[in-house]
Amino acid sequence: MENKKIILTGDRPTGHLHLGHFVGSIKRRIELQNKGGYDEFYVMLADAQALTDNFGNVQKVKDNVLQVMLDYLAVGLDPNKITFLIQSEVSELTEFTFYYMNLVTLSRLERNPTIKEELKQKTQFNESIPMGFLTYPVSQTADITAFNATIIPVGDDQLPMIEQAREIVRSFNNLYGETLVEPKAILPENENCFRLIGTDGKAKMSKSLNNCIYLSDEPDEIKQKVFSMYTDPDHIHLEDPGKVEGNTVFTYLDVFSSPEDFEKYLPEYKNLDELKAHYIRGGLGDMKIKKFLNNILQDLLAPIRERRKEFEKNPDAVFEILKKGTQKARKVAYKNLIKLKTNMGINYFN
Ligand code: TRP
Repeated sequence: MENKKIILTGDRPTGHLHLGHFVGSIKRRIELQNKGGYDEFYVMLADAQALTDNFGNVQKVKDNVLQVMLDYLAVGLDPNKITFLIQSEVSELTEFTFYYMNLVTLSRLERNPTIKEELKQKTQFNESIPMGFLTYPVSQTADITAFNATIIPVGDDQLPMIEQAREIVRSFNNLYGETLVEPKAILPENENCFRLIGTDGKAKMSKSLNNCIYLSDEPDEIKQKVFSMYTDPDHIHLEDPGKVEGNTVFTYLDVFSSPEDFEKYLPEYKNLDELKAHYIRGGLGDMKIKKFLNNILQDLLAPIRERRKEFEKNPDAVFEILKKGTQKARKVAYKNLIKLKTNMGINYFN
């Protein structure tokens, strides 16, 4: 079977993208895009998947299709190099899903660690789980295999989804002969990027926890969020020795600071290790490290915000990109669906 390098990934459009998305997946996408050498690169706005826990809230999801797409363009994902598509506009995906349902058991779905974790948080289900939600990993397998995607850049919470996809691919191929390709996940490099901690320092950055710095935040919002971050609660006076572990500002510096930032803003320190050593020793105030982090994040986000504002002026052009990408993707999904059904022997009229 042809072994093309086809990258596919996506997001649920339920809110603006934040720094957690940026370090967990967006940065990697930009690197992959710039490195090139792939045959296709798809980025999907998984609106149908978003509905699995927002059912009845179509308008919210719809609005966020545009918002997330604006974020994509703002960070520099390039429609000339990436095919952007809207999941619900590729109806073939639901047909893939229907056949794959036969290759998964209820208990296997209930064991999916990400589903388990999400169910704990979804109090709106009142213990009464919609099948659409429980089976979204199957639909995600369709998202991947409909395009023969081989490389899936995601955050680590998505690993169970990719594992599920690989199992379905193997079962399908066992039953019907080599048809589908097993996808591989690729994760961010830096461990702290897997689940960027929120500004509250308590849990993963997430809209529902209200602990996010959004890519579209204004400078004063960023500043206010950085300055209200937790550091070390025992580090009260400047001269007190401080802890860097579990200190949100340092966690962020681990992720976002570079030697160039030190040259630019804190030339008295060579690097983060020196800054940490000073903090641990005592004599370094929280104000200074917060100012430093704020400068770094302002530099990172300013060009993104500016580009976003440009694209915001012309939503029609943004939808045109989505329409073109979706049309192209749909052709591919259709071709692969026919192949899938033919291999299954579901072809009556030819
Ligand atoms: N589940 C992913 C998320 O919550 C979004 C998604 C949908 C996706 N389909 C996908 C990711 C296919 C990778 C591949 O972010």
